[in-house]
Amino acid sequence: MSAGGSMHRWTICGLLLIAACDDNIFGEPPFVPLTTEGWDGVQEVFDDYCLDCHGATAAFGQLDLETDPYGALVSVQSSNGAMNLVEPGDPDNSLLYLKLIDMQPPGNGSKMPPASVLANEATEIVKNWIADGATQE
Ligand code: HEC
Repeated sequence: MSAGGSMHRWTICGLLLIAACDDNIFGEPPFVPLTTEGWDGVQEVFDDYCLDCHGATAAFGQLDLETDPYGALVSVQSSNGAMNLVEPGDPDNSLLYLKLIDMQPPGNGSKMPPASVLANEATEIVKNWIADGATQE
């Protein structure tokens, strides 16, 4: 009786483990629900998905999103000078947003993050923040 009971528990644990890993098996980043809008929400997206490569110590693409992310992005030209990383009020002319949706013009590197796709919630937070004027609120 007790042996059967513990077997049952292991089966349930196994199923929970598979459910918890589901997102990773299919190549999506583990998604933490993002509820904050505006600049705070944008920084939450950076914390969750970008700082591994764009932190203060390892700033790939010369982009440090940890030390002063606002100063590094808003009305700042991209590394090749083709467009601003964030053009206040204009997400479609902001390389930051275009890379998140894989719509960067040729010659502007790859989508971000390179090996995964952000959830719509995350890209919407960034898009709305830029469209609303990219303020620090
Ligand atoms: C696995 C590492 C990695 C992750 C994670 C990553 N990046 Fe990048 N990022 C790079 C590399 C490498 C480059 C330079 C090559 C390129 O632009 O494709 C780059 C370049 C960029 C650029 C262009 C900078 C410029 O001036 O040209 C932006 C904007 C950017 N990343 C934003 C992000 C954002 C936002 C996230 C998180 C949602 C993110 N990246 C996550 C590696 C990464």
